[in-house]
Amino acid sequence: MNYQNKNLEYTNAEAYDKRGESSVLEKYVLELWQPFLKNIVAGLSSDKIVIDLGCGTCEYAQAAREAKKIYAVDVSEEMLGVCRKKMENFKQAEIINSSIENFVSPILADLVITIGIWEYADLGKLYEKIKNITQSGSKVIVVFPNIYNGLNWMRSLVKWRRVAIRPSFIKKLFRNNFTLVDSDSFGTVFWFPKKLQFLTKPIWKLEDWFWKPFQKFLPVGVNVYYLFERK
Ligand SMILES: C[S@@+](CC[C@H](N)C(=O)[O-])C[C@H]1O[C@@H](n2cnc3c(N)ncnc32)[C@H](O)[C@@H]1O
Repeated sequence: MNYQNKNLEYTNAEAYDKRGESSVLEKYVLELWQPFLKNIVAGLSSDKIVIDLGCGTCEYAQAAREAKKIYAVDVSEEMLGVCRKKMENFKQAEIINSSIENFVSPILADLVITIGIWEYADLGKLYEKIKNITQSGSKVIVVFPNIYNGLNWMRSLVKWRRVAIRPSFIKKLFRNNFTLVDSDSFGTVFWFPKKLQFLTKPIWKLEDWFWKPFQKFLPVGVNVYYLFERK
């Protein structure tokens, strides 16, 4: 089921959260990425001020269980509806319906989460916002679709718009004010007809296993993860 309309607005939060049920590929990618990222969010957020930009249904914000304060920001009230439910026991969370551009943070963040937002945002403006809400020592989780992945190449061609980003572009954007402290990539999937994807899953697994040592230098996974620290 579609969770976005033709203007790329998120209109069905439940379908978004269930997207792993619709294809072997989505499930394979989610099962790799979600535990990995939640682990990182949990590890970096204890006693910290966390700002999640483009939080969606708060799948990752909810991993910041031990955070001192959480600001979860999204332009889609539909997505925030599900986020509010997931975060109802988080007394320290403020759920904010705003575009990232208009969001004015009341405080500087120790940890900024930007997962799955880079392909929608104006990259320069998003970076400026991150700069405005961080200070020396603040960490930023950046996760974006990787242009060097076969599936993303194909999606870009078919949709004729930017669906993925060059990792070197992101690194360059952050270079002056941030240090790259960690990176990874996996989910080395390629396009295959939905009904036959179970045939390619072992190949994706093999590729991920084989390419694991090289992903830091030449990422070919469907997404790239960078962790930056403000200088
Ligand atoms: C792919 S989803 C990612 C959600 C969440 N970060 C995750 O990884 O599950 C992208 C989210 O960004 C939000 N979004 C897109 N453009 C935005 C903007 N300019 N300001 C705030 N949120 C935006 C959408 O409403 C959507 O919830």
